[in-house]
Amino acid sequence: MIYFDNNATTPIDPLVFEAMQPFLTTFYGNPSSLHRHGRVVKTAIEQARQQVASLVNVSADQVIFTSGGTEANNLCLSAAICSGKQNILLGATEHPSVSEQVRYLSNTGFIFDELGVDNKGLIAKDVLDASINADTGLISIMHSNNETGVIQNISELAELANEKGIAFHTDAVQSIGKVPVDFNALNVNLMSLSGHKVNAPKGVGAVIHDKRTLLTPLLHGGGQEAGLRPGTENVAAIVGFGKAAELAQQELEQRSKHLLNLQLVLEEELRLVNGLTVVASSVERLPNTSQILMDNIDGEMLLMQLDQKGVAISSGSACSSNSKLPSTVLKAMGFSDSLALSAIRVSLGHQNTQQEVLDFVTALKGIVNQPV
Ligand SMILES: Cc1ncc(COP(=O)(O)O)c(C=O)c1O
Repeated sequence: MIYFDNNATTPIDPLVFEAMQPFLTTFYGNPSSLHRHGRVVKTAIEQARQQVASLVNVSADQVIFTSGGTEANNLCLSAAICSGKQNILLGATEHPSVSEQVRYLSNTGFIFDELGVDNKGLIAKDVLDASINADTGLISIMHSNNETGVIQNISELAELANEKGIAFHTDAVQSIGKVPVDFNALNVNLMSLSGHKVNAPKGVGAVIHDKRTLLTPLLHGGGQEAGLRPGTENVAAIVGFGKAAELAQQELEQRSKHLLNLQLVLEEELRLVNGLTVVASSVERLPNTSQILMDNIDGEMLLMQLDQKGVAISSGSACSSNSKLPSTVLKAMGFSDSLALSAIRVSLGHQNTQQEVLDFVTALKGIVNQPV
């Protein structure tokens, strides 16, 4: 099977699995316990905190572990509640774990405005500037998009927010391990990460916090994670996330170079397929993501046919692939319903090879050239 669905999730790295194992067996203590069993586990969590912190260039006390990217995004959006203001600005192509939480908050009195994107998926600085008003308490714009791979100019947008004293959150779930992500260089106040997109297990993520922006916990209980995420820690997953972050940092340059080479080969080959478009190919994107549109093709049917040929890809985002609605991301970028419904997303992993890319293209060409 050729696995090209790495934006949905990634395989656990064997070294990550190895690092986790003792914390599922030997080291079972509760990290809040003061005895040796607890202290060993607590030390492992603090090491993981340092490893995640190092990946995004912050100090360990800025990392709050959560159950994943969704919870991290939800927790970051609680900054709107603490801001004392009522308006939230969010990108038009945000992941549902941002957009649905903002919609939920709007039921409790918040007003939100979506920041429109251009046909490349980018939010212009003047669009943000024009949308900010005296009641804006939080701005949330993703670092890179899970469907198209488009990378926003976050530092420029966040600088504007800083000048106006408005908290800025970015969802960097898809970016870590693929491109450099430096929390401080980006000028942001809050950032969300997820383990399973970077070869750690599912069910672990983190908020990166500037320690100035006020947050309110989603859960109420003990004092774990500085009181912002109470509940006994998912120790093995946190340890795994730490190890994955360390590997991602060590191997970032070679991973992104490898992904970029694969992406170049893929898109060069795809250029030869009639009626095929790679979304936002002219702007900065993640080196692993190619969103493909094709005239007169049903993306979901194509996905099933590719599955039969041993290729795993996704049509649009995994979270919306159960519905037959066109991708809201592609709609926001101005694509027609029929073209948006043709979308398939190829998301490569650093474990993939050039031969797999070539085999995928052969399989795709075989399917789309079939008489309908
Ligand atoms: C951009 C983005 N944000 C957030 C999430 C949610 O992360 P998790 O699956 O860890 O809840 C995803 C997962 O698909 C994502 O792609």
